Amino acid sequence: MRTSEETRVADKQATLDLGGQTQEFPVLEGSVGPDVVDIRKLYGTTGKFTYDPGYKSTASCESALTYIDGEAGVLLHRGYPIGQLAENSSFMEVSYLLLNGELPTQEDLDDFTYTITRHTMVHDQLRQFYQGFRRDAHPMAIMCGVVGALSAFYHDSTDISDPEQRKIASHRLIAKMPTIAAMAYKYSVGQPFMQPKNELSYTGNFLRMTFGVPAEEYEIHPAIEKAMDRIFILHADHEQNASTSTVRLAGSSGANPFACMAAGIACLWGPAHGGANEAALNMLQEIGSPDKIPHYIERAKDKNDPFRLMGFGHRVCKNYDPRATVMQQTLREVFEALNVNDPVFETALKLEELALNDDYFKEKKLFPNVDFYSGIILNAIGFPTTMFTALFALARTVGWVAQWNEMISDPAQVIGRPRQLYTGPTERDYVPIGQR
Ligand code: CMC
Repeated sequence: MRTSEETRVADKQATLDLGGQTQEFPVLEGSVGPDVVDIRKLYGTTGKFTYDPGYKSTASCESALTYIDGEAGVLLHRGYPIGQLAENSSFMEVSYLLLNGELPTQEDLDDFTYTITRHTMVHDQLRQFYQGFRRDAHPMAIMCGVVGALSAFYHDSTDISDPEQRKIASHRLIAKMPTIAAMAYKYSVGQPFMQPKNELSYTGNFLRMTFGVPAEEYEIHPAIEKAMDRIFILHADHEQNASTSTVRLAGSSGANPFACMAAGIACLWGPAHGGANEAALNMLQEIGSPDKIPHYIERAKDKNDPFRLMGFGHRVCKNYDPRATVMQQTLREVFEALNVNDPVFETALKLEELALNDDYFKEKKLFPNVDFYSGIILNAIGFPTTMFTALFALARTVGWVAQWNEMISDPAQVIGRPRQLYTGPTERDYVPIGQR
């Protein structure tokens, strides 16, 4: 990866005219994608800030991990298209790729898988944290708490200036997340926690820890294991999305890595982000049958109605999300393997068709995103809707730790500290309470 220092400066300059006073700013070129105007010196030279709530036009960092061309429906991890990775790779391999920049050799992959597998157990005392939650607690509430609590357990991997400790923290997080998520599920249904089993794959282990019980052997369905692994790949990273940016911002102060991941989980939970998979299935079930779809489409278009089509639209993806394409194909495979046919799928297909042919959705470039079909698959596999976002968090942990590592290793890294357009009262004198 090129460092910020080495970022190529294009021949172009951007000129800003502030009431007759002009100022030049360098334009930086990435390897692909839009150039960026480097405004780091804007305040120092002009005394002005830029205003960009939601970062619609702001590149917050330099990154070599993931590239998205939202208009063209392209998603690349370290240059590899998501469709190829979903078809040919495994979640362990994609994790290695995101963390290390290159696809592993067989030996590298075996070593990496071995290491992750050997970190899947959690400290035995951690199980007591679960008892503190109500049985009906949302798994994401538990995940926020328990992942944050990891920061109190693994003191030997929290010196973020040491690359080796960062690596160990990253491996621990990737390895323990399935155990923690499965424990959240087990706690909610009142079944004993299942310990990981090292002979199983990352994904097979997770399925067994979730659906297995100590009373009998759990048989892993190969098609479900494959589908689940692919779902993890599809969620692994998505450049500077809200939760990843949250992890980066939290980490920019030098905070404990486990605590930073808890911050990412908190952000992911929202329905505009990872919580959309749960919301999308709830919505599809509420719609119930294809004949009700036009009513819901009208509601989604009505500015006075807060209802939105969940699993539709994206800040960056302005074309069919390539992850949704793979998700739909995976859904068909799972239905075939399990010999099920959920009528909700028919509703989803019809909803997609009607929305994609509707002028409102066409004009605003609103397409199904990764969350539109995932809930239907996860439901068929047997997960309750409340677990959906926890599964997203499990997989996105890889992206979070890779992005966090990239940030900490970047010599240009500084604490994230946005400015504001202040519109509150100007200075005034304190008024004693009796005189107000
Ligand atoms: N249904 C109806 N209208 C929509 C939708 C939708 N799902 N999404 C966007 N719009 C409209 C929105 O009302 C706005 O219209 P106008 O320009 O007239 O005000 C326009 O499209 C642009 O929307 P926005 O909210 O300004 O765009 P954004 O980039 O800030 O928001 C989004 C992106 C994903 C939050 C939004 O599309 C949304 O709320 N979608 C539903 C929730 C969802 O599926 N989220 C998952 C995102 S993908 C996975 C992930 O990141 O976790």
